[in-house]
Amino acid sequence: MKQAVILINPYLTEQAELYQPRRLRAELGKLGVRADVLPNAWTAHTGRDGIEEELSSRYDFCVYLDKDKYAPRALEKRGMRLFNRAEAVEVCDDKMLTHLALAGVVPMPETYFAPLCYKEGARAEIGEKLSYPIVVKEAFGSLGKQVFLARNRAELAALSQELKCRPHLYQEFIAESAGRDLRAVCVGGEIVACMERRSEGDFRSNLSLGGKGEIFTPTEELRTLCKKVADTLGLDYCGIDFLFGKEGLLVCEVNSNAFFGGIEGVTGANVAAVYAEYMVKTIYGE
Ligand SMILES: Nc1ncnc2c1ncn2[C@@H]1O[C@H](COP(=O)(O)OP(=O)(O)O)[C@@H](O)[C@H]1O
Ligand SMILES: [Mg+2]
Repeated sequence: MKQAVILINPYLTEQAELYQPRRLRAELGKLGVRADVLPNAWTAHTGRDGIEEELSSRYDFCVYLDKDKYAPRALEKRGMRLFNRAEAVEVCDDKMLTHLALAGVVPMPETYFAPLCYKEGARAEIGEKLSYPIVVKEAFGSLGKQVFLARNRAELAALSQELKCRPHLYQEFIAESAGRDLRAVCVGGEIVACMERRSEGDFRSNLSLGGKGEIFTPTEELRTLCKKVADTLGLDYCGIDFLFGKEGLLVCEVNSNAFFGGIEGVTGANVAAVYAEYMVKTIYGE
């Protein structure tokens, strides 16, 4: 029997959080693959006969919906094929690693990485390298929650002080794109669904912060950029955010674990079905 495991964060309990694994399990089922949804708990360990050993011998592949970077490495060591692969998940989770990997490959806003501070009492180095307003982001964050705008030196100093002991970056604010961006969900580097997101009262257009999505017909420029991003980062599946720059699109960030519920609702695309087909074809060649 064809069998897959869908690993999810063990702390997910709400119905909305379980939408993605449920949809993927259903679509894999239609293709003759039985998928078990399991919590990603204690998957990585060192020693003999751990959970990773059991999972990799029982299942043909793993749909990895968590962001923890240790479990995927442990599973890959045992020969398991993960969607996405360990390295891709790790690089996308860290906005600075994503920028470094994509530098020179696709256009992106100018970005400085903050020096990391290890002393609670120290005064922060202020990242006054760009003209105001300056976008400040934590390296690890999602749903727009760890993204801020500093309009002047006082705001920048306050943010720098608050974030100094956490990895963060300073980025050129793309004014033309304020409150507006593009989200493209890709499977194997091809766009499956695309929407433009707009927010009225916030420079961040995330749906979770009140942004409204509208279907967007991909341009050739967008298709080419998506392919380059997915190929460079080795992503089977991703959601890429783009900003509208003066001279064209700029890659804002790449989500290896992008939620697809919102974009399915906006565009009517069946992302889960396309992703399931892609995985089945990759593993079984069908
Ligand atoms: N450099 C920027 N210039 C203008 N708007 C930005 C910039 N960076 C981010 N944004 C806005 O903030 C939103 C959230 O930023 P993003 O980097 O995608 O973080 P998250 O992982 O939290 O979604 C983006 O979707 C976009 O609307
Ligand atoms: Mg984003």
